[in-house]
Amino acid sequence: MNDTIFIVLSLGIAYLLGSIPFGYILVRTFRGEDIRATGSGNIGATNVARSGAKGLGIATLVLDALKGWLAVYIAQRLALHYGAFPHGYDVAALAGLFAVLGHMFPVWLGFRGGKGVATALGVFLALMPFVTLVAVLVFAGVVVTTRYVSLGSIIGAAVLAILAVCFDGRHRIIVDLCYIAIALLVIWKHSGNIQRLRAGTESKFGQKSAATL
Ligand code: G3P
Repeated sequence: MNDTIFIVLSLGIAYLLGSIPFGYILVRTFRGEDIRATGSGNIGATNVARSGAKGLGIATLVLDALKGWLAVYIAQRLALHYGAFPHGYDVAALAGLFAVLGHMFPVWLGFRGGKGVATALGVFLALMPFVTLVAVLVFAGVVVTTRYVSLGSIIGAAVLAILAVCFDGRHRIIVDLCYIAIALLVIWKHSGNIQRLRAGTESKFGQKSAATL
């Protein structure tokens, strides 16, 4: 029974935390606009910054990452509270997946949310901080050289999942599947970006207008 409560609580809290659409809320609150109607239409930090609100973009990045981190942290604390080990780490990784799902499919926005990059960043920072920092460097390298944030996100997500599976000493299949699922979801959510990259119409970082809706 304890395990059931622990799992339902952890995953429920994770989804609800992940589903808070910070980009949408910040732009709506401070600029009176719907971020979904501008640029790429995404509610994430890149599009918020692209819309001309760089400060709000940074705030969106931090808050979206924080909610992913918090979802995992709460699951880890609940695992301690309910004495749920050795399954605690499995559920913490599942909580990370649920936080990313919450961001991508938020009940508050008709299940049409963001691409999950910042939230996944927070999740992996909580689960595997070192490999996350390596993936962030890869992301930054791609963005600096190409100026495509989306390409950095796609490559960064793939690198992160590969490194996480290779270097997670626990070798737990559920955990590895969570890592892979998060990366595949992030990449799948970039389908539109991939099409635009192939067509040469993807907006570069720093470009004012994307016109990619
Ligand atoms: O974090 C999302 C980023 O990778 C792409 O955002 O707005 O260019 O689709 P966007």
